[in-house]
Amino acid sequence: MTEERLRHLLGIRDLSKTLAERILDTAETFLEVTRRPVRKVPTLRGKTVLNLFFEASTRTRSSFELAGKRLGADVMNVGGSSSSTSKGETLRDTVATLDAMHADVIVVRHGASGAASYVAQRARAAVINAGDGMHEHPSQALLDSFTIRRHKKSLQGLRVAICGDIAHSRVARSNALLLPMLGAEVVLAGPRTLLPLGVESWGVKSYDRLEPALKNADVVMMLRIQKERLGARLFSTLREYSQQFGLTSARLALAKSDAVVMHPGPVNRGVEIADDIVDGSRSLILDQVEAGVAVRMAILYLCATDPDQSIGA
Ligand code: NCD
Repeated sequence: MTEERLRHLLGIRDLSKTLAERILDTAETFLEVTRRPVRKVPTLRGKTVLNLFFEASTRTRSSFELAGKRLGADVMNVGGSSSSTSKGETLRDTVATLDAMHADVIVVRHGASGAASYVAQRARAAVINAGDGMHEHPSQALLDSFTIRRHKKSLQGLRVAICGDIAHSRVARSNALLLPMLGAEVVLAGPRTLLPLGVESWGVKSYDRLEPALKNADVVMMLRIQKERLGARLFSTLREYSQQFGLTSARLALAKSDAVVMHPGPVNRGVEIADDIVDGSRSLILDQVEAGVAVRMAILYLCATDPDQSIGA
């Protein structure tokens, strides 16, 4: 039987439950590859992956680059101040230029919500959204689910509290769509001014205090304040924010005794999360980073190959 194909990954709505689980299962195989002494398979040999990043990134950009390289693809990084956008070129012309170079996959990060679908409408290549403004970050949600599944065996019935600046977070948005699809319950917590307008329509519970969200949580996912996206002042001071919404050991005690703590990074230590929790035994923050490479290998593989081509592992 021919498997469902992943044409682009622009948001979680591009995925069925079957396809999302197929990405997570494929990533298990690739995680094993990334732990070998020789961390490379020839699956995407002869394919070209272009990383088009217009916003700062450490984890996402380097893990897409490593993922492509570990699959044997040619990977090139474009964007930022070194590209012609800084000379006034439009996104449309940049995409047409890169598409003329016969990229197989374009991975795009951009400050504007909807930028990845704009690129997808204009490119022959498969397009992966690596974060578009405040909209979505689907590969992050997939690696988060992968990390949770590895630690808790299944997502079914788990309570995941996503806490912090929800309104400006593409990570929260993608996770709020994917986790319930995979059987988990999502609850959100943040100051009222940092909860998105119309959050009721997300179909998940939200609180303007941390404590009720943490109660009985299996997973606590903390988010950074997106300073670069804050328009007006939406909270008084960072110190006050930290006092009310920072994750401390005392607050973590409200969650289940085996609860784990996650953060997509970058972490602002001492603001949304205490130092000792970041480095503590319940933190999965570096597991998320490791999972990121394997999950992005799975996404690239499914976007760049025929549905029935074998992994070659
Ligand atoms: C996130 C992002 O860029 O949306 N980071 C990431 O990809 N790991 C979250 C953030 O910037 O706070």
